[in-house]
Amino acid sequence: MTQRSTGALDSAAWPAFADLVEHCDAFPSGCWCMAFHSEGVANGADHAAVNRERKQARVVAGTAHAALVFEADDCVGWCQFGQSDELPRIKGRAAYERTLTGLPDWRIACCFVAKGHRRQGVAKAALGGALDLIAGLGGGTVEGYPEPAGSVSAGFLFNGALSTYEQLGFTRDRMIGKHRWVVTRFVEPID
Ligand SMILES: CC(C)(COP(=O)(O)OP(=O)(O)OC[C@H]1O[C@@H](n2cnc3c(N)ncnc32)[C@H](O)[C@@H]1OP(=O)(O)O)[C@@H](O)C(=O)NCCC(=O)NCCS
Repeated sequence: MTQRSTGALDSAAWPAFADLVEHCDAFPSGCWCMAFHSEGVANGADHAAVNRERKQARVVAGTAHAALVFEADDCVGWCQFGQSDELPRIKGRAAYERTLTGLPDWRIACCFVAKGHRRQGVAKAALGGALDLIAGLGGGTVEGYPEPAGSVSAGFLFNGALSTYEQLGFTRDRMIGKHRWVVTRFVEPID
């Protein structure tokens, strides 16, 4: 079995992340995981290049966070996370804000696993990796916004499957869409 590991998206990991995005034949090849940042996804003929440049600038500046999952040296998936102001453009935002009582310390946003590596627990490894990184960054309350697998096709589970979050200790708080839940848990800090 191929050895699996997780690590942070930083400048050193950028080439492996970029290799996955550029060759994944799915949404991230154009959006570069920019949709939840304040800039949103660029449009236009050169949108992929613009999104790539903006993402890399954020990684260099430390204003984009994700846990990457590696099998040997290949990045096969990720789980994006960040503080609320780093990821303001969540799905179901209007309903979220109508029912908001307080912002979390951290949000989980885009979850992605490369085709050929799906249904092997990579998404769970990525979310677990994100929680480990959050613990190292001071911990706190963490929210995610997943939908149940089966409510939409897996290719549109942009925030991952509800079951993945529940397996890692998240509990359901409220609904902000036909299928979308706000789920929450607390992460203890580690030194
Ligand atoms: C959603 C996604 C992250 C799940 O990754 P994964 O590693 O395959 O997830 P898992 O194997 O841990 O499965 C999670 C759950 O979803 C279910 N599931 C996953 N794919 C499924 C499918 N095609 N049909 C039905 N259920 C499915 C699994 O059975 C599992 O449920 P369980 O916990 O009850 O057993 C992956 O399908 C994906 O990347 N989809 C595209 C999302 C995307 O484009 N994101 C970027 C947007 S820019």
